[in-house]
Amino acid sequence: MAQPSDELLDPATMLDRRFRAAISSVLGIVPEACDPQVRPSGDPRHGDFQSNAAMSLAKSHGMKPRELAERIARTVDLAGIALAPEVAGPGFINIRLDAGALASMLEGMDDARLGIVPQRRIHAVTIDLCGVNVAKQMHVGHLRATIIGDCLARVHERLGRKVHRENHLGDWGLPIAMTLAALRRRGADLDRLTLPDLNVAYRAAQAAGADDPGGLAAARATGCGPHRIAELEAQHEGARAAVEEAKSTLLRLQAGDAELLRDWRKIVDCTMREVFETAVILNVRLGPEHSRGESFYRDRLGIVVEDFLESGLATEDAGAIVVRFADRERPLLIRKSDGGFLYATTDLAAVRFRVQELDSDRVVYVVDARQRDHFKDVFDACRLIGWDRTSDGERSELVHLGFGAVLGADKRPLKTRSGENVTLASLLAEAVARGEEEVRARAADPDAATHGLSDPELHAIGRAVGIAAVKYADLSLEVSRDYVFDLDRMVSFQGDTGPYIQYAHARIRSILVKAGLEVPVDRPALPDAPIAVAAPSERDLALALLAYAGVVEDVARTLEPSRLCAFLHRLANAFNAFYHDCPVLKADEPTRSSRLRLSDLTRRVLADGLALLGIESPARM
Ligand code: ARG
Repeated sequence: MAQPSDELLDPATMLDRRFRAAISSVLGIVPEACDPQVRPSGDPRHGDFQSNAAMSLAKSHGMKPRELAERIARTVDLAGIALAPEVAGPGFINIRLDAGALASMLEGMDDARLGIVPQRRIHAVTIDLCGVNVAKQMHVGHLRATIIGDCLARVHERLGRKVHRENHLGDWGLPIAMTLAALRRRGADLDRLTLPDLNVAYRAAQAAGADDPGGLAAARATGCGPHRIAELEAQHEGARAAVEEAKSTLLRLQAGDAELLRDWRKIVDCTMREVFETAVILNVRLGPEHSRGESFYRDRLGIVVEDFLESGLATEDAGAIVVRFADRERPLLIRKSDGGFLYATTDLAAVRFRVQELDSDRVVYVVDARQRDHFKDVFDACRLIGWDRTSDGERSELVHLGFGAVLGADKRPLKTRSGENVTLASLLAEAVARGEEEVRARAADPDAATHGLSDPELHAIGRAVGIAAVKYADLSLEVSRDYVFDLDRMVSFQGDTGPYIQYAHARIRSILVKAGLEVPVDRPALPDAPIAVAAPSERDLALALLAYAGVVEDVARTLEPSRLCAFLHRLANAFNAFYHDCPVLKADEPTRSSRLRLSDLTRRVLADGLALLGIESPARM
């Protein structure tokens, strides 16, 4: 068995390095400047990979592409990886991996790491996810902020990074104070509070309204963006009495009134109970330890404004404090004329905290794409003042990963029949019911692996399938895209769906069981059988498997979980083609054991990849 090493085992990366060295020596330039453009081959008859660099590099070095390609092909050292490369057409270099090398790379990745090498980095990564608002029910928008964020956290963790999951709760400020005031006025029993009650109180309080003409006038006068004007306008209607009461409640809350704080805690806890229950249903890692809401920053807001004023980056404008940018009209309002702070002020404090105190060299905000201007302004302001630097001076990458909307069949934002926002709880309940329906229908077939399972077992599988359907459908598209929520398509066992991949995994497991093997969840079932790769579909499966580590790194780099989904779909297809073409159980030894081991490796890569998406892999389906 090949020894695990710290070298990346992914062939694309190995070829990249070897070709870089060759181009560098042929052209006499540094390896960093020699992108060899190694790509999977467009046509398997010509090889497994190709390098296209000669075409783009030749001209600037006064050579013909074909001549350069030939020199690179003669120079490159592919010992232990590939056969001698062949030059084709105007200057493509075709590469066929050596079957023995393929086999030993596969054997090398067949341990718990599956080829993934931990990144040694001192700084952490922060993922801003979920972002619910206290006293409001979770709706479908929170689905995306939660599952995309959880997936990216898992991917970074899998790569050995320290990750902070930050649930930036909307738990402070006037809307909460209004709800609190309304509930107290009604004499509501806060110990018996349910989230629907709370939601009603919240809406009633909002309708009563918060009058904030000072802030609104300032926002208009300073030419603030529509997002912020809307934020203030939303509070502008309604009765003064309710507003005065809410404002005084807020002041007392801010001053630390013990009784009010206790009641505030109750409405926060009531909201969070549902959030944590939903996280469990969704198989998302999100608990109380990840909650650091707007209230956490309340004592840091004054300092934010002072620091901006002191550095000369903020100015007073009609009583309000704003930060201006050289390249746009829209300023960033950080304190209202009445002295109140804003959503943006809190986010400035949060960036500073995450970069400097949580020591993150990357902060990813998984938040609705409509907040683009907000984050652009907040990040730019932080760059101006230098809060994008960790304490050792490293520049932190601040990214708003803006996701698109979830639409109904009518291509409009998903609503219930009566026009309400669809709550996340009802959406997930429906998905679980559909998953269960699907699983029970299949279990009725006497040949099904699930036939005869107990009721709770079928329920558990159905739940896993329903949740996989929803999550995979969401994660398999580019993050910024809107998509139509279509449960029938999502829950299908065919096509590019979560259940299709789960099914491929369960099917491989049952093949291994049929072979009489013991099948541990996350350890190899046949750690010692030599692997041999011969048939074309066997080779294709091998290449798919070897791409895994590179794909996981790619997801971390691009923040696009869809690439992992596309990989898993390709792998499941490659396995199905292999299993169709190549006898496994009926093959003679040593081919039988080699193919079983290849199947087992596929099983574990599928399960590992699904786990990175936060999707379970049931043993039977
Ligand atoms: N509560 C916010 C909203 O519902 C989302 C919070 C996103 N995170 C942040 N750091 N601003 O719009």
